[in-house]
Amino acid sequence: VSHWTEVGNLTNALENQSVLIRGRAQTIRAVGNKMSFVVVRERGFTVQCVVTVQLDTVSRQMVKYVAGLSRESIIDVEGVVSVPSVEIKGTTQQVEVQVRKLYCVSRAAVLPINIEDAARSDVEIEKALQAGETLVRVNQDTRLNNRVLDLRTPANQGIFRIQSQVGNIFRQFLISEGFFEIHSPKLIAGSSEGGAAVFKLNYKGQEACLAQSPQLHKQMAICGDFGRIFEIGPVFRAEDSFTHRHLCEFTGLDVEMEIKRHYSEVMDVVGPLFVAMFDSLNKNCAKELEAVARQYPFQPLKYLPETLRLTFEEGVQMLKEAGVEVDPFGDLNTENERKLGQLVLEKYGTEFYILHRYPLAVRPFYTMPCHDNPAYSNSFDVFIRGEEIISGAQRVHVPELLTERAQALGIDVKTISTYIDSFRYGAPPHGGFGVGLERVVMLFCGLNNIRKTSLFPRDPLRLAP
Ligand code: 4AD
Repeated sequence: VSHWTEVGNLTNALENQSVLIRGRAQTIRAVGNKMSFVVVRERGFTVQCVVTVQLDTVSRQMVKYVAGLSRESIIDVEGVVSVPSVEIKGTTQQVEVQVRKLYCVSRAAVLPINIEDAARSDVEIEKALQAGETLVRVNQDTRLNNRVLDLRTPANQGIFRIQSQVGNIFRQFLISEGFFEIHSPKLIAGSSEGGAAVFKLNYKGQEACLAQSPQLHKQMAICGDFGRIFEIGPVFRAEDSFTHRHLCEFTGLDVEMEIKRHYSEVMDVVGPLFVAMFDSLNKNCAKELEAVARQYPFQPLKYLPETLRLTFEEGVQMLKEAGVEVDPFGDLNTENERKLGQLVLEKYGTEFYILHRYPLAVRPFYTMPCHDNPAYSNSFDVFIRGEEIISGAQRVHVPELLTERAQALGIDVKTISTYIDSFRYGAPPHGGFGVGLERVVMLFCGLNNIRKTSLFPRDPLRLAP
């Protein structure tokens, strides 16, 4: 009797056993008219299947039929596991399957991109080209145009499992710390982060927009005495940013919590949460990280068990000492964030750290000014490899100050009047933060573009597939 077995589980231990596998015909090769080889791939794992003419089971017609299969067709194979005497090159599994029966379940049409080419690293591509192989370099746009095929590469199989684990740990950790999950509306009346980067729409005759963040409603839930909450959901930004790290839609991981005395209570959640996440990824996603690194080589993230915190002032000072002059009350540009990341790595040995007490002028209207110096704010950003993944802060819970801050930043307070009103009936001091899921995965894996970690990315030029 044959048992359904996953390709990734085919090992020496199954030698001489009969198995059933389902996967894609990654490559098909005929040797004369008596033998064909099919490499079968299932979720990034590959095994070589050998079809040889045998009097009792395999006919010449069958060998011919197999040779005529199209790449990426889904096939069922029944056969016996064998261990060849020589090492098998080009497959993940070190055993073969001697085929007795083979069925085509779903035939693939001619492919617009070659999955094997799409799965190669830059180094492998260079080598292959130098060796005179013909291959087509699959560029990012072509990949995204054919995303369903592109997703089949081992690296992508890894990336989206890693993404899932990031969400998992975020949820598990926060629940264990007494948080619970909420679902805030994505159709809202006005901008939640200030600025013009909103998708406007007509809501039954009333002007509305897609939420730029759960910011306003997660704070309103705090006014509803929810204490400690989080949300995982879509975030929409209509920005015309053509960068490696901006999307028009991304997945936001948001947290909001009451605080007793100081905004450091929020940073006390961020540090351990991310350390737990990185530990878990390294431990539980080792295979996936390896698959990503095979195509996109990267060094494991360096982080400390206790997350480093620097003030914005200290950051500015470090840059100054390195000869970089920055406005002490302005924001850091991308280049200076990177530079500071380098300096922090050299001095403290970590690529993950918190920068806090930002100048008030560069933070959103709902950010609480520092009580000892209102030129600064009770806010922070968090960086991985010199790029921002989180921003957070204590919020203004005093309605008069909130109105004043919103007006000062040119926000039409009419559009957020119900939000401001929420603070009129007693509001606890509170703070929180927002994380971009795609950015976390991109930077943890040292990838160069956020489109690689978004399943079907949305950017200013892309609404399909
Ligand atoms: O820095 P942002 O805009 O902050 C907020 O939305 C606040 N409401 C968060 C808070 O609770 N104070 O966005 C938060 C995170 C960023 O650190 C970044 O990781 C990600 O969201 N992000 C984007 N990711 C992809 N594409 C974009 N256009 C992004 N904009 C922000």
